[in-house]
Amino acid sequence: MNQQFIEQESVEQQELAQLLFEVQFKLSPELVCHAPGRVNLIGDHTDYNDGFVLPAAINYGTTIAASVREDNIVKVYAHDCDEQINKFSLSDISFDDQMMWSNYVKGTLQALIKKHPEIKGANLVVTGNVPQGAGLSSSASFEIAILKAFTQLYQLDLKGIEAALIGQQAENNFVGCNCGIMDQLISAMGQKEHAMLLDCRDLSFEDAPIPDDLTLFIVNSNVKRGLVDSEYNLRRQQCEQVAEYFGVSALRDVTIEQLISAKEHIAPVLFKRARHVITENSRALTTLEALKNNDIASISIAMKESHISLRDDFEVTTKEMDGLVDIIGEVLGADGGVRMTGGGFGGCVVALVPSVMVIQVENAVNNKYEKEYGLKPNIYHCTATQGAFR
Ligand code: GLA
Repeated sequence: MNQQFIEQESVEQQELAQLLFEVQFKLSPELVCHAPGRVNLIGDHTDYNDGFVLPAAINYGTTIAASVREDNIVKVYAHDCDEQINKFSLSDISFDDQMMWSNYVKGTLQALIKKHPEIKGANLVVTGNVPQGAGLSSSASFEIAILKAFTQLYQLDLKGIEAALIGQQAENNFVGCNCGIMDQLISAMGQKEHAMLLDCRDLSFEDAPIPDDLTLFIVNSNVKRGLVDSEYNLRRQQCEQVAEYFGVSALRDVTIEQLISAKEHIAPVLFKRARHVITENSRALTTLEALKNNDIASISIAMKESHISLRDDFEVTTKEMDGLVDIIGEVLGADGGVRMTGGGFGGCVVALVPSVMVIQVENAVNNKYEKEYGLKPNIYHCTATQGAFR
C-alpha cells in the first residue's frame, strides 16, 4: 500500500480499516486514506454570511480503505453505523431515508460525478472516531475522506478547495443542510499545529500558529442534538433577511453602526441574529492577531464574548453547554479561553488551556458537570493536524 495515502492517521485506525476491508471484500485495499474532523476556535455562524472563521483540523477523523471496481457500483461497509452495508449504482443515485449515513457518500459522489464523469465504482470500508452529532464535523470529515479516496483511486486532478465545495454541495443539495464552507475546507486544507483564518467570501486563508503551551481541550456535553438542521437553516434565513434589508449579498457587508442605526426598522430577533454575526466576524479577526502575538488575555475575552453572543443573540447554546463554559471559565480566568463550538444546539465546548492547567480544568469538569446536569462529559485532548488535501 502506498505510504503517502496514510501518513497522517493513527496506525490503529489504518490497520482496523485494512483488516475490515479484507474481511468484507476478501482482498487487500488499494489504499487507506483519512480526513480529519475539526474544532472551531471562534467565528461560528459566520461562514454562510461570507464572514471569517478560525477552525483547526483535529486528530480525530474518518478513515477509509478502498479499491476500484470495474462496474458503476459503490459498495460501502460502515463499521461505526451498526456495520451496515449500502450498495448503489453511480448511474442511479437516490436519497435513502433508512440509512441516513449513506446519503453523505451518495451526495458527495453525485456532486463529484458532475466534475469527473470518468469515475467508476469502488469498494469502501469506513471507520471513524469523531463523535457523531457533537459539533466536530464527523460528516464533513466523511465527505472529504470519500473525495480523497476517489481522488487517489482514479488519479483525479482535484484540489482541496474544490473538494471542500463538492462536500458542501453534498450537504446543501442532497442531505438538506444549508451549511457553509468551514467544515469541509478545514478538513481538506488544515495545517498541523495551526488554526486557519478563513475568509469565507473568497476562500483565501492564513495559517495561524497555536502557541505550544496551549492545549486544545474539547468537552462533549453529550446533549442530544435535536432539530439541528431545521434550526440551522432558519438561522441562515434570518441572516439573509437582514442582508436583503440592507441591499447587500451577505451580512459581511453590514457594519455594526449601520445595524444599530436601523434598529427600529428590523424585527428584534433579526437584529440580534445580525448583531451576533457582525461582532463575531470582528472577534475572529481579533483572535487571529492574538494567536500570532501569544496574547492569551485577548483570546480569553474574545472567546467569552463569542459564547455570550451565541447564547443570547444567536440562541444556539443549551443550559448544559453554558454550564460547561462557566465551569471551565471559572478555572481559567484570563489565562485561557472557552466557548461553545460549531453549530450548537448541543455538542461540544472548546477551550484553549495552558498545559499546566489541564489537570485542574479536567478535575473541575469531572467533579461538577455530571452532578449538576446529570450527563457524563467526554473530554478530548486534541492536537491540530494536517488536512486530507494539504
Ligand atoms: C456547522 C456548519 C458550518 C458552520 C457551523 C457554525 O458546523 O456545517 O458550516 O456554519 O455550523 O459555525
